[in-house]
Amino acid sequence: MKKKVIVFERMEEPVLSALQEEFDVRIFTEDEMNDDPVSLSFLRGAEGIIGLGFPGNSDILDKAPNLKIISNISVGYSNLDLEALTKRKIMATNTPDVLTDTVADMAMGLIISTARRMPELDQYVKQGQWKEAVRTELFGMDIHHKTLGIIGMGRIGQAIAKRAHFGFNMDILYHSRTPKPEAESQFYADYMNLENLLKESDFVCMITPLTEETRGMIGKKEFQLMKPSAIFINISRGSTVVEKDLIEALKEKEIAAAGLDVYVEEPINPDNELLKMNHVVTLPHIGSATYETEIKMAELAAKNLRAGLNGEKPGNLVNQEVWEKDK
Ligand code: NAP
Ligand code: GLV
Repeated sequence: MKKKVIVFERMEEPVLSALQEEFDVRIFTEDEMNDDPVSLSFLRGAEGIIGLGFPGNSDILDKAPNLKIISNISVGYSNLDLEALTKRKIMATNTPDVLTDTVADMAMGLIISTARRMPELDQYVKQGQWKEAVRTELFGMDIHHKTLGIIGMGRIGQAIAKRAHFGFNMDILYHSRTPKPEAESQFYADYMNLENLLKESDFVCMITPLTEETRGMIGKKEFQLMKPSAIFINISRGSTVVEKDLIEALKEKEIAAAGLDVYVEEPINPDNELLKMNHVVTLPHIGSATYETEIKMAELAAKNLRAGLNGEKPGNLVNQEVWEKDK
């Protein structure tokens, strides 16, 4: 009998079809996973879950006694309660590296479109208001030769630094838990504490994982440290930022503008004040969403899933303890 696998939210073809040939696959969305008896019954028998943002917490894991692996189609895994998974000997995997350049490209796009007010100007042109668009109040801010502060100098942070330094002649400041000597020699990046980075940067880009340490890391105090001309970019997770403090900082002009790909609530509530502000550029959490990269991520996640279900150690296991305990 084929092993039962849940595809959560979405998976690109042809990776989905390949999985369907090997496994008994059902596709469920978050809404369908709630109290629907059909999905609950399938969940009880499922050995693998693959997808985006599956809420892997104790409540749901208790309903999945046969589960061996949750394979995230993302590098971030803040959707998973690793302690609860490890306690139940369920493996968790992610998809690092294959998306790094794509997310860094998007970050540069968000920096440029926010600084140069591109979405706003696009609307003027499309509404036949060309002349109204070309006026002092709508002029943008230079990016080249400015200072970019990167919070989270990991894979994606360093790919952003590379683009910003070599492409735009930007000075790079960074903050992470540990210094990165290679980044310092490659991009002349300066390691700083958070406070100095915030004070000195023209652009601040948040790209850490969401953890207990980074939850709410950027709030009122941090926005007040930034320059009034600073542009804040968040592509990490919405909850690394205190969203109400961001709204306040934008209203009070403590910072100049924000470019956002992630939000505390996703999809964002249409009444959220961020959506009413012209100096905020919003994207629907699409950092890695190019066709090529989505395929690579799905392939890697499927490989991780297969390994886990075949009793092999998956390449991108994030809770190593599960494997070590068993061996
Ligand atoms: P990574 O290589 O693990 O890099 C994470 C960086 O964050 C590391 O430099 C790490 O510092 C730093 N960090 C962690 N905790 C910190 C803290 N408390 N204070 C300061 N810095 C801290 O991960 P990555 O591949 O670059 O991905 C980073 C995150 O980006 C993901 O976890 C995900 O949340 C987000 N992301 C978003 C999108 C999107 O679509 N918007 C796409 C992909 C990823 P150390 O190196 O010193 O440990
Ligand atoms: C996307 O947000 C990811 O973490 O890959």
